[in-house]
Amino acid sequence: MSNLLNNPPRLPMIFPSILGADFTRMGEDCAQVLELGAEALHVDVMDGHFVPNLSMGPKMVADLRAMFPDVYMDVHLMVTDPQDYVGPFAKAGANCITFHIEAAMGRKTDNEKDVLKQIRDAGCQAGIVIRPPTPPQAIFHLLDELDMILLMSVHPGFSGQSFMPIALDKARTLKPMLKPTTRLEIDGGLNAETAPQAIAAGVDVIVAASALFGAPDRAKMLAALRGEG
Ligand code: DX5
Ligand code: ZN
Repeated sequence: MSNLLNNPPRLPMIFPSILGADFTRMGEDCAQVLELGAEALHVDVMDGHFVPNLSMGPKMVADLRAMFPDVYMDVHLMVTDPQDYVGPFAKAGANCITFHIEAAMGRKTDNEKDVLKQIRDAGCQAGIVIRPPTPPQAIFHLLDELDMILLMSVHPGFSGQSFMPIALDKARTLKPMLKPTTRLEIDGGLNAETAPQAIAAGVDVIVAASALFGAPDRAKMLAALRGEG
C-alpha cells in the first residue's frame, strides 16, 4: 500500500520501530506485530554523526522488503547528509523517507525542498522530522509538500527514553494547518499513557519501540497505543 499516508485505512495507525526488536529475530518480531495489526514498520537510520549512535542501513530494508513484499516501510533518517541516502533506501524498498530539518538548516537555501523532491522523484512519500527543541515554525514553509511530519518526543538516537510533552504542543499547533492527506507522526517514549495524549493532540501515527516490543502482551499494547486500552 504505497499511499498509506494519504489514504489511511484507519487512524491512529501504529508503526513499530524495529530498533526495539531483537536483532537476532528481526523477521519473527516484525511478522508478529504485523499479524497483530500494526500498519507499517518504522526503520531508524543513525549515522553516528547527526546522532550519537549507529543503527542500520539499506540492507535491513532490502531484506525486510524481501520477507514482507507488501508492508509499508517508513524510513526515518537521522543522518547529516540525507541526500546521500535517499537513493539507496528507495532502491531497497522504502515507501516513505523522512529526514531532519535540522540537517538542512544552515545549508544552501531550499536544500530541504531539493531533498523532498529527490525523495518524491525516487518514488517515495516524503516527510520532515523536527527534534524536541525545534519549533514548528521551522517547517511552516514546507507544509504543502509533506506527506508526513514526524515530531520527535525524545532526543533522537536511542530507544527507551522518557516522553517529552513539548511535542504535544507542536501537534496542536500544526494539526489545523495540515492538508487532509498529510499525516502527523510522533516518535519517542510512546506507551499506554503517552500515546492517548498524543492522539488527543491530533497525532495520526504512533511510533513505538520499547513499549511494544518489550510488552508481555503485544496485542494488548497495540490496542493501548491506539487509545483503546
Ligand atoms: C529514536 C528513534 C525512535 C525510537 C523509539 O531516535 O527515532 O524511533 O526507536 O523508541 P521508544 O519507543 O523506545 O522511545
Ligand atoms: Zn524513529
